[in-house]
Amino acid sequence: MSVHKEIKKVTTNTLQEMKRTGEKIAMLTAYDYSMARIIDAAGVDVILVGDSASNVMAGHETTLPITLDQMIYHAASVIRGVNRALVVVDLPFGSYQGNSKEALTSAIRVMKESGAHAVKIEGGKEIEESVKRILSAGIPVMGHLGLTPQSIYKFGTYSVRAKEEEEAKRLIQDAHTLEKAGCFAIVLEKIPASLATYVAKEISIPLIGIGAGSGVDGQVLVLHDMLGLNMGFNPRFLRRYLNLFEEIQGAVSTYVDDVKQKDFPNANEQY
Ligand code: KIV
Repeated sequence: MSVHKEIKKVTTNTLQEMKRTGEKIAMLTAYDYSMARIIDAAGVDVILVGDSASNVMAGHETTLPITLDQMIYHAASVIRGVNRALVVVDLPFGSYQGNSKEALTSAIRVMKESGAHAVKIEGGKEIEESVKRILSAGIPVMGHLGLTPQSIYKFGTYSVRAKEEEEAKRLIQDAHTLEKAGCFAIVLEKIPASLATYVAKEISIPLIGIGAGSGVDGQVLVLHDMLGLNMGFNPRFLRRYLNLFEEIQGAVSTYVDDVKQKDFPNANEQY
């Protein structure tokens, strides 16, 4: 008799249920097959193929340069490593801002060519039409408010957003707009914890925070930041669980020494 344990896949309904029961949602980014396999096996609920790939995978200063083709490549790699988590893919800068038809075309490409489960787009009122149009094709949409890195040149800095009353009010309105338009969840990035807690109580869909405090329905971090692969980035909200930069550098320099010293390969490591 085979003892095959059925894996219960995470869906948008699962996240809604988690909000209802108060179970926090754990989300991380991934951009490749190997890392996706590890974090899926570790029990992460949502994997975001973030356009932060532009920074941490390609070395760009901003998220703007990454293309739709490159996002699809990363997403397809991640999907091949995932059994349980819900996989959400960022539509990159320039692939949806033109109009809702462009947004739908980009979302369809992501779903068809990568096998992902949902897309994420940045913005509030200005993307309402696009959210509705993408949803009309049966594609779930996650929103993203607060610090929206694709608008970095409008903001001018990566500092905390919505500290002033006017911007906070606009964010609350935008969260309501996205909920009404049909988003299944919203990422809230780098806003005061008190505001994020307020919005999480006001809105019935899950709110997932990054630098938004503990009063939201879940947390997301960029994998390379929390694993310490990217030691130059030190915002207050980041908890580092490893220093992989140092670990990998140490292992590689030992390997280099072993080769130079003719210690590797030894008699048992050859044919
Ligand atoms: O691209 C990304 O990694 C993101 C997270 C920071 C939420 O959007």
